[in-house]
Amino acid sequence: MKLWHNPASPFARKVRIVARETGLSARITEIGTTVSPVKVNSELARSNPLVKIPVLETDDGETLYDSAVICEYLDSLHENTQLFPAHGAMRWQALRLQALGDGILDAAVLSRYELAVRPQPLQWMEWLQGQQAKIDGGLDALAQEAGSWGRGFGIGQITAACVLGYLDFRFADRNWRATRPQLAAWFADVAQRPSVSATVPA
Ligand code: BEZ
Repeated sequence: MKLWHNPASPFARKVRIVARETGLSARITEIGTTVSPVKVNSELARSNPLVKIPVLETDDGETLYDSAVICEYLDSLHENTQLFPAHGAMRWQALRLQALGDGILDAAVLSRYELAVRPQPLQWMEWLQGQQAKIDGGLDALAQEAGSWGRGFGIGQITAACVLGYLDFRFADRNWRATRPQLAAWFADVAQRPSVSATVPA
């Protein structure tokens, strides 16, 4: 299989962590590529009309995106502990937690583009504040439930780890830890997992 990614992308990091947690990484060739909201990557556009990463080409030649679809596909290829519960309340909790993390990431990546790519005179402060409110609300929700996660590291927790890693990478000055010590302790613990430490954004 081939995975198009960028080391800075938190959505691609979800897939790279899942590949390592499931023992599938030896079957996946990771191919670095770049994305920009203002410059089309024409090679990537041939695989994903949304021109986003991650994209996975399976051994059958199928092309899959986005991160949630790729992660669940990889989880269907192994016999170790499932990262996506198959059914019941656990499944909906895991999918809801993944959606919460993906939503925080959407707001964080859009904010990053606004600040790093949009010319400064065109930047819209109220919009940025609106995105920050989503990030803060989402982090508070993660902090509230982190105490119930125990040692579990399924797709919801993997997404949460990618959120916190991305905020450390791009928004360290906003100090998400200050009011969320329990979430900070949880992240310090999971950051030691080989799958997480091997994929720290650069
Ligand atoms: C970033 O540089 O922050 C970034 C790169 C790729 C996808 C999303 C974010």
